[in-house]
Amino acid sequence: MDPLVIERYPGSWIGLEEHTEERGARGRLIRHKQDGSGPISEFEVRYSLSEARVAQLPDRIQRPGTSGLHLAIMDRSHHWDAIYTKREAEEVSWYEAIPTASIQRVREAVERGARSVIDIGGGASRLVDHLVETDLDRITVLDISRRALDIARKRVGTVGEAVEWVVGDITRLDDLGTFDVWHDRAVFHFLTDSSDRRRYVTLCERTVEPGGMAVMATFAPDGPEMCSGLPVHRYDAQELSERCGSAFELVDDEHYVHVTPAGVEQSFVYFSFRRVTSSACLSVSPSGAGSGS
Ligand SMILES: C[S@@+](CC[C@H](N)C(=O)[O-])C[C@H]1O[C@@H](n2cnc3c(N)ncnc32)[C@H](O)[C@@H]1O
Repeated sequence: MDPLVIERYPGSWIGLEEHTEERGARGRLIRHKQDGSGPISEFEVRYSLSEARVAQLPDRIQRPGTSGLHLAIMDRSHHWDAIYTKREAEEVSWYEAIPTASIQRVREAVERGARSVIDIGGGASRLVDHLVETDLDRITVLDISRRALDIARKRVGTVGEAVEWVVGDITRLDDLGTFDVWHDRAVFHFLTDSSDRRRYVTLCERTVEPGGMAVMATFAPDGPEMCSGLPVHRYDAQELSERCGSAFELVDDEHYVHVTPAGVEQSFVYFSFRRVTSSACLSVSPSGAGSGS
């Protein structure tokens, strides 16, 4: 069967191969080099076809010649579970023994009165080890990978009994309750699809109370173009502010160099946004959140 092109990028494309639409719909998602010199990465995926989702899918996921059949890759969790299974949490490129920049920004928010924190795509990060030592009413760690959360939960042990661990895809959730601080290090930059980004921002607006903070760290414009075999979108302050929309006001941004366990320097930017309270901003509709492009 010919590969189904899912996404195209400069120099490469992702195709779904050897897929079957029967018996659970499974396939291999493969990133190819444009020059045909061989696959860059591949992983097994499960996907599902659903009429309800067809309208939400971008045109590029449409397979020509098959009556407008659309495919949605439903199970990104497989990719991330595989990474956290194959490698120790201390070996992944984003590992930090002490996540200093995140701790500092969350601490500043707590000093200004924040009582609840949600770590989006927290994975096996050690931020939660510091949050449990902070005077907070509610701590939630959300990740698409159950395996990553299991690692963090075991490590934190009994002091983390009050932590809520949520397994879920941030682009597919509608309600997380409300939090004073939304923290995301190295997750939003994986959302290369505009509808995923819109859903993320809509959920962030719904979750962060007016006056609350969204602390985000993404690869900087001179940072890596890929991570974990996936493409990323790199941000400067102007572009991320546009993406986050008028409900969030940029308080500050700071360049940050992360050194991976292998000793490679990666250029990040940390952003702190305040959820603004003006009625004009609160009236932004979900479909209008951010520039969405
Ligand atoms: C580069 S890692 C960063 C982990 C953690 N924030 C840190 O700083 O150590 C990206 C994390 O995002 C999670 N992730 C990726 N896509 C996600 C999604 N759509 N929803 C929720 N989590 C996601 C992955 O499982 C992984 O743990």
